[in-house]
Amino acid sequence: MLLRFILGLIGVGFAFILTISLISDLTTFLSSPPEESAEHEFHKHPKHLALASDGPFGKFDRQQLQRGFQVYKEVCAACHSLNLVAFRNLHDLGYEEAEVKAIANQWQIEVPTVNPETGEPATRKAIPSDTFPDPYANETAARAANNNMLPPDLSLITKAREGGAAYTYSILTGYQRQPAKLVREFPAAKTPPGLHYNPYFANLNIAMPPPLTSAGQVTYAPGNPAPTVDQMAEDVSAFLVWAAEPKLENRHRSGIAVVIFLLVGTVLGYLAYRQIWAEAKRKVRATGALDPKNLAKSRRAKAKSGVTG
Ligand code: HEC
Repeated sequence: MLLRFILGLIGVGFAFILTISLISDLTTFLSSPPEESAEHEFHKHPKHLALASDGPFGKFDRQQLQRGFQVYKEVCAACHSLNLVAFRNLHDLGYEEAEVKAIANQWQIEVPTVNPETGEPATRKAIPSDTFPDPYANETAARAANNNMLPPDLSLITKAREGGAAYTYSILTGYQRQPAKLVREFPAAKTPPGLHYNPYFANLNIAMPPPLTSAGQVTYAPGNPAPTVDQMAEDVSAFLVWAAEPKLENRHRSGIAVVIFLLVGTVLGYLAYRQIWAEAKRKVRATGALDPKNLAKSRRAKAKSGVTG
């Protein structure tokens, strides 16, 4: 009895505290509604981007990946590494062994190493087993060159950002003049010197200067679409999807195989169930126990004897 009373008291105390905190939260919310901010009003969600690798049956468009790699190589690699992707992974995009060797050998950024004779830091040409190197010696150097911001490694960027490839594509094509309305309403949010207005970036001002500015910045091999800014942005985004998940096609393929396997398994399971219980059911039916009238009778008998279930 006493225990019940104490437990009840604890319950009432708990409910009381909850009510108090609810009331206090409500009053703060009503007295000071969330502040309007430039981000709140002007930030945009990624544009729509359809790639061949989308959906459960998606496959990479190798031609597009090669174009995207070319954009990475000629534009983005000046600032961004791909430290989880090796040159030899380019075989996947359809490059031959010799081509991969040549690409690594001619890479504009050399790989850090140590001079075996003097022990001094040195650099050497890349080889196929190297990953795409960081153009900066370290973080300090990277920040010094980029308005104190760090160009992130792009290996997993399409996995790391909401919107994935569409986000990258939107950032690359989203640079614009800062709307006059924004500056009028939020003077403090004016783009500082050295940054660039981009409504697809979380805080609207990005340290990356627009990397793709003019059509034909990269020359595509004959037979490819014209290298407009939009096309280059789409291609490099597709390439970064591959960089983040080179085995995407295997995943799709095994996913489909597993679903088919489970469907067949379900049908077989159902047929086995029918087979195993066929005899038992036939017998029960023969006794008439499943007849609705008999069922009702036996239920009544059970109720009378106090057996439940
Ligand atoms: C001049 C150097 C430079 C070049 C060239 C460059 N970037 Fe960047 N990039 C940066 C810097 C610096 C940042 C960090 C910006 C920030 O945090 O404000 C960045 C950030 C990014 C981000 C991440 C945004 C985020 O959400 O954090 C992506 C994606 C990106 N760059 C893609 C690219 C692609 C693709 C290319 C090639 C077409 C490219 N960049 C070329 C310097 C560069």
